[in-house]
Amino acid sequence: MVTRSGIIGALMNAHAHPYTELAARLAHVVPAAEIALAAPLIARIEALKAVHGALILAHNYQTPLVSAVADFTGDSLAMAQFALEAPARTLVVCGVRFMAETVKLLCPDKRVLLSAEEAGCSLADSIDAEAVRAVRAACPGVPAVAYINTSAAVKAEVDVCCTSANAVRVVRALGVPRVIMLPDQHLAGFVAQESGVEVVAWGGQCEVHTRFDAADIRAFRLDAAVTILAHPECPQAVRAEADFVGSTGAMAKFLSERRPPRAMLLTECAMADNVAVQCPDIQFVRPCNLCPHMKATTLERVVQALETLTVPIEIDPALATRARRPIARMLEIG
Ligand code: 13P
Ligand code: SF4
Repeated sequence: MVTRSGIIGALMNAHAHPYTELAARLAHVVPAAEIALAAPLIARIEALKAVHGALILAHNYQTPLVSAVADFTGDSLAMAQFALEAPARTLVVCGVRFMAETVKLLCPDKRVLLSAEEAGCSLADSIDAEAVRAVRAACPGVPAVAYINTSAAVKAEVDVCCTSANAVRVVRALGVPRVIMLPDQHLAGFVAQESGVEVVAWGGQCEVHTRFDAADIRAFRLDAAVTILAHPECPQAVRAEADFVGSTGAMAKFLSERRPPRAMLLTECAMADNVAVQCPDIQFVRPCNLCPHMKATTLERVVQALETLTVPIEIDPALATRARRPIARMLEIG
């Protein structure tokens, strides 16, 4: 989790040459020419944020240039926690739809904008409310946990939400021998393994994390110095090859504390770029996979979102009341 970095502060510092400062911070990650091209867009975004009293929340999978205009960057849980306290009239979510919906559920009186209308998620798309009702009917009395990567309609059908950062904690907190966990089959497997609780899973998968292959990762192990980190959305065989499994926020924390000389992140490509900005001493081996939904957001799209105040997130109030409850329960657990 990173609160508003010094990047834009430095950019706007009248005593420093703004683009030189930004270029220096991103030098080992983004080519100088790209930063120079981005500079007018960054300045425009800062001006529009001031006009609309807006703050930008960016997920860890956004590019370093999008992260540079963000007032907050982090994983799904940290974004939700930040939204609760965010001192702004308008919140722009640079991420995917379920993240913007979560922010809207937590901040119903704020204007919440999603930076790219088409930014969905293969996990969120893998299940609907009717399917949740069917699973629940087949397992009477078993509490249902929804990954935050779900629609508001799905959240409205469950007892509690979780993110990859707190899934094990949430399931343990329920204090029951059996839970339903939707929709990611791999996160469900990870939770079952870590908590000892029996998990009834759905068959959803993340189209990005499911592409990693255990045999490929084993080949990288020939380099003894590489530390391998995996997201819990990776298949079990891939997670088994990793030295550490955790959310994007947990990976960033692990790396900033341990500072291994070389690291490989089994997750979306921008994650390594963003950690590299903070930890220039770590060398990244990059067999990463791109998330097309996360990559729909660019600086141009952020300018457009702020100029046209699109895409506004609206959720039916009755549905929102039901969908907010499991998120609030999750935030109470922490
Ligand atoms: P995190 O909550 O770990 O950031 O993960 C969100 C996500 O969509 C991973 O694919
Ligand atoms: Fe969804 Fe996977 Fe993209 Fe995360 S990386 S937003 S889970 S498709």
